[in-house]
Amino acid sequence: MTISGTNAVVVQRGDYKVPSYQISEIALDLRLDPENTEVSACLHFQCTATAPVTELHLDGESLELLSLQRDGRTLAEHEYRLTDAGLVLLNPPESFVLESRVRIHPAANSTLSGLYHAGGQFLTQCEAEGFRRITYTLDRPDCLARFTVTLHAPQKNCPVLLANGNCMATGDEEDGWHWARWEDPYPKPAYLFAMVAGDLAVVRDQYRTASGRDVVLEIYVAERDTGACVQAMDSLKRAMHWDEEVYGREYDLDRYMIVATDSFNMGAMENKGLNIFNAKYVLASPETATDNDYQGIESVIAHEYFHNWTGNRVTLRDWFQLSLKEGLTVFRDQEFSADQNSRGVQRIDDVRRLRAAQFPEDAGPLAHPVRPDAYSEINNFYTATVYEKGAELVRMIHTLLGKAQFRQGMDLYFQRHDGQAVTIEDFVAAMEDANQRDLSGFRRWYGQAGTPILRATGSYDPARHSYTLTLRQETPATPGQPVKEPVPIPVRMALLNTQGQRVPLNGTDRESILLLEQTEQSWTFDNLPDPVIPSLLRGFSAPVRLESPLDDDARSFLASHDDDPFNRWESIQDLAVKALLATVADASLASLPSALRHAVAATLGDAQIDPAFRAELLSLPSEDYIGEQMPVIAVEAVHHARDSLMRTIGMQFVPEWMGLYHDLAATYQRDGLSIGRRRLRNLALSYLIAGDHEGHEGMALYARQQYAQADNMTDRLAAFQLLVQHRHHDAEDILLDFYRRWHEYPLLIDKWFAIQAATPRPETLRQVEHLLVHPAFDWRVPNRVRAVLGGFAANPTVFHAADGSGYAFYAEQLRRLDDLNPQTAARLATPLSRWQRYDAPRQQAMGEALKMLAGKPKLSRDLAEVIQRSHP
Ligand code: ARG
Ligand code: ZN
Repeated sequence: MTISGTNAVVVQRGDYKVPSYQISEIALDLRLDPENTEVSACLHFQCTATAPVTELHLDGESLELLSLQRDGRTLAEHEYRLTDAGLVLLNPPESFVLESRVRIHPAANSTLSGLYHAGGQFLTQCEAEGFRRITYTLDRPDCLARFTVTLHAPQKNCPVLLANGNCMATGDEEDGWHWARWEDPYPKPAYLFAMVAGDLAVVRDQYRTASGRDVVLEIYVAERDTGACVQAMDSLKRAMHWDEEVYGREYDLDRYMIVATDSFNMGAMENKGLNIFNAKYVLASPETATDNDYQGIESVIAHEYFHNWTGNRVTLRDWFQLSLKEGLTVFRDQEFSADQNSRGVQRIDDVRRLRAAQFPEDAGPLAHPVRPDAYSEINNFYTATVYEKGAELVRMIHTLLGKAQFRQGMDLYFQRHDGQAVTIEDFVAAMEDANQRDLSGFRRWYGQAGTPILRATGSYDPARHSYTLTLRQETPATPGQPVKEPVPIPVRMALLNTQGQRVPLNGTDRESILLLEQTEQSWTFDNLPDPVIPSLLRGFSAPVRLESPLDDDARSFLASHDDDPFNRWESIQDLAVKALLATVADASLASLPSALRHAVAATLGDAQIDPAFRAELLSLPSEDYIGEQMPVIAVEAVHHARDSLMRTIGMQFVPEWMGLYHDLAATYQRDGLSIGRRRLRNLALSYLIAGDHEGHEGMALYARQQYAQADNMTDRLAAFQLLVQHRHHDAEDILLDFYRRWHEYPLLIDKWFAIQAATPRPETLRQVEHLLVHPAFDWRVPNRVRAVLGGFAANPTVFHAADGSGYAFYAEQLRRLDDLNPQTAARLATPLSRWQRYDAPRQQAMGEALKMLAGKPKLSRDLAEVIQRSHP
């Protein structure tokens, strides 16, 4: 696609060069003013190159240079040059001190990258390349410096002044200003720098590390939110303890600070000693947050904490290594959550997320390896592939080596690389060297994009009493990688007899990990007097698409007998997908096939199953997931098929659903069992409402009652969502009521916006137009924009409306957003990249939407790259 006026530089992984200079110290002095902030920086440079350097390029963006001195002397014009990308020092000496003064404009900074002023606070976001928007520097992760930061601000607006490390001194100044000086003893790359100034309340606690050091824990929030930090603080302490127990890693500063803000581009940021969080992952009370919100807080708090070792103490050589910290840290936070809650349910949720976000990415034009080869804007590579698939690769190493051996590899990794900026290769090498294992084949996973298809066939030989399993792999081509090599795929498996027991596999083990390294391999298991049913890819032991050899009866059997929770869930999902695809192909087949009916009945009838897991088993696959299984996504048919299966299951099991709904009613509690019971009960309510005959509003009465009387937000919101999405006659009143009750809680108003935008009704487009001019809508707050536009894009029948109206509307909004916040605009644009998956008229309309965006004046580098790669 031709894009107007872009000359984006493409950064290639192979072009990496060690920096010719290092900066040992950075002293920053900031006079904070929303309109005009002055930043003085003092940087100590040392040459590390052997040959003389004639030009030293410093990064700088949107900076107004006020003065520039080297070793105390103002630089003459022939000694430096200003460029679009920063500042070039000409013939610099071997070592020198550079002092610069620049002016920046935090309130006007709507990109939320660098230093910005939002909601009355000054905040920073420097990953990936935000620090260059604060001062001229070597803004690259392999340049580690010791930071000293002095903040000046008016005492009245900004009583709290925070930066990384330890607070060394504070004082008052004239005109009601004050200052604070912070020092971080650990050298760090600029992307981990942070500062915060504002009027914040603090919630304080303490943690004693395994070696007996006391750490002060602080969460900074608005005064009225101090009661809503219990889950965040508790999760932090549990995460600190877990990292000591499982990895032997302690926290290394005396103070750990977390700041919550409503204005944030991502989830959270692991700045050394001073994490900055999207408020969504900090604030929760039973009245204002759902069980899922609590779960999200636990995992993101842990994720950022774990970065202190995997990311900060050992950091990245360059941005192509992003998954070194993100994939590894996601793996760590997933394992933490699995240990805190139910391992089986956690795995199902993690795989669901991988399939919803990463599989489609890997199958479309934006596919890239976990270690990408090129980028034009690195912020576009904070993807499900780098994060979630990256975590799956670490998980496979864990599976292949075993728990104790993995830990040895981690120990060696930390021992070798503490304080360094390293590569994915260094990580894999540590795993190999600690265990004398060869992972050379495994490295291909990092360089090869695309989701492998794993085809399994099996046969039982009654004469030989043996079962032979054949596995084949194939990875479809992806952009720039037409030919794929086989990758090593660990397939955890068992064979079940007709009683559902695992049988011994050529020995005493009743479970085994087969390693498929070639394109095709076979395994034979002997001494099997009776036929067996294979349970393959247990726990989803590799990020592949499994084409299973099982027929419906075998699936139904596994759905109630497999002792692997993931596979049990997968079996019932497979049955549901199959039934749904049949209905999609022929709407007159709308029925409940007997294998699925048996599986549902067995699950509904088995009160022994843990309620959270039971809710997973009984949840139908999403429309997106069903669509993913089709060569061309039939948007409307998928929607109707799923609706009708919900209705059928709702109607056929009314007494069972009703029983669950009544039996599971309980006063609010926050333990795991209560959470599972709420989940199952709300699922029952959704089936009851789906199964209600047209016009008859009996079940909606339950929802209305639940909405009005719930003693917690999980139940209230579940009822609210059902009433709004089914457009019951009083949906309007309920929307108004919700808004009136919760308008002072931004996170709940985000939900209020998102649920409306996700309503599958023809009139939704018009309503979303109204939402965009609602007084509570704010283009500058990413959470709000994502609620409406993200909610809209996740609404299949409205976003993909056959007349193309959804796409045209959406592109129009992205065009507007791009001028304010390119990072968020680019991220929201990715659904348009999936155009090849739809029918010809939709392809055409999505192409036009992309073309319209491509022609936008002042198109950001972020959005330009997404459009370019989406439609080359
Ligand atoms: N490192 C952060 C994390 O924990 C994500 C920050 C990404 N920010 C960005 N602007 N790309 O996952
Ligand atoms: Zn992270």
